[in-house]
Amino acid sequence: MKILISGGAGFIGSAVAERLAADGHDVRLLDNLSPQVHGKDGRRSFSLSRARASGRLVVGDVTSAEDWHRCLGDVTHVLHLAAETGTGQSMYSVGRYCEANVAGTATLLDILRNTEHQVSRVVVASSRAVYGEGAAHCPRHGTVYPHGRRIQDMEQGLFAPPCPICQVATTPEPTLEEARLRPNSIYAVTKLAQEQLIMTACPALDIEAVALRYQNVYGPGQSLVNPYTGILSIFAVAMLSEQPINVFEDGAETRDFVYIDDVVEATNAALFADKVNGHIVNVGSGRPTSVVQIVGLLAAALGVEPRYRVSGDFRVGDIRHNWADISKAARLFHYEPTWAVDAGISRFARWVQDELEQYIQSGGSYDAALDELRQHGLLHRSR
Ligand SMILES: NC(=O)c1ccc[n+]([C@@H]2O[C@H](COP(=O)([O-])OP(=O)(O)OC[C@H]3O[C@@H](n4cnc5c(N)ncnc54)[C@H](O)[C@@H]3O)[C@@H](O)[C@H]2O)c1
Ligand SMILES: [Zn+2]
Repeated sequence: MKILISGGAGFIGSAVAERLAADGHDVRLLDNLSPQVHGKDGRRSFSLSRARASGRLVVGDVTSAEDWHRCLGDVTHVLHLAAETGTGQSMYSVGRYCEANVAGTATLLDILRNTEHQVSRVVVASSRAVYGEGAAHCPRHGTVYPHGRRIQDMEQGLFAPPCPICQVATTPEPTLEEARLRPNSIYAVTKLAQEQLIMTACPALDIEAVALRYQNVYGPGQSLVNPYTGILSIFAVAMLSEQPINVFEDGAETRDFVYIDDVVEATNAALFADKVNGHIVNVGSGRPTSVVQIVGLLAAALGVEPRYRVSGDFRVGDIRHNWADISKAARLFHYEPTWAVDAGISRFARWVQDELEQYIQSGGSYDAALDELRQHGLLHRSR
């Protein structure tokens, strides 16, 4: 098969590319090598090196029809991953996020509509962000989809989202694909738009389409310099530079951390499995992990004392809980995550240490490595 991965030099794209190349596929990558993700010149970007070793990289932008044309050729499968990915950043860079994520996807679809091509399937990366707050259980109303939380409640340390009908505190539940969608950032809105553009346009073009709602993906290859995404990168770098971590709320907020190898497996299935056409599918670990647990596991894996403060601070609009019900992926393509979070975090921690080690061996000092990370704003994240 000939597969084109947009955003293929990034974390998930390069990991999938490596797998596809190992399986003997012809892999092409379209990526604009965003400095926010890859650093100033990309020379030390792990994911970019992994991508280069796995396929032919075309440096270009998904908002340019010409750049798509340069790599579409006789491609049979498109994995559309290119995106701006910072949730917080999206709130003050609305045009930039809509341009890359929404207009970029529209550009691909216009090409598929208006030119000759061989594309038979498109897989698009969506996100857990489309749900906003995850599903919850109310003792009276069963499964409910809470609204955003009230500032006055959070100021009093009441962090559990109330039932939208009776206002009683809820307990979290895994979120199914048919859950209410309530994107709560511009990033989330653009991910939902990407998903819906692909799922609406492709059937009319007689192209198969699958959308994967990735949960919090982590592992070797995630950007260590992008200060706008990746809680594990941010925490790891803070820990290694002995910066205390500010744990928001009471630290019991949860997310679904899914290891990159499991995501590669699911993505590979979405590209090639039968009977997946038209499906929107959660890809996660299927388990919640709290932020305090993550801090403890990561500190242990890095061999440092966990220095953190549970501050009670909160960000307006943040969600409390979200983890995926992954039974649909299991049903559709036998997806079964194999990485427990402690094993995944150990592997990730070892990789972070190797990355810094290599940098030091290549003539840089540990302090210089941290300085560079500081310049990228990473070390100022925790107050
Ligand atoms: N990592 C996660 O936890 C996660 C969770 C949910 C969804 N996703 C989605 O998965 C996809 C891949 O995420 P990732 O973690 O690999 O991110 P990443 O930042 O590592 O990779 C994205 C890649 O896209 C490239 N890119 C950005 N804008 C582009 C443009 N206009 N034209 C061409 N290339 C462009 C970047 O240079 C980068 O290499 C994204 O669509 C993201 O929204 C990721
Ligand atoms: Zn209720």
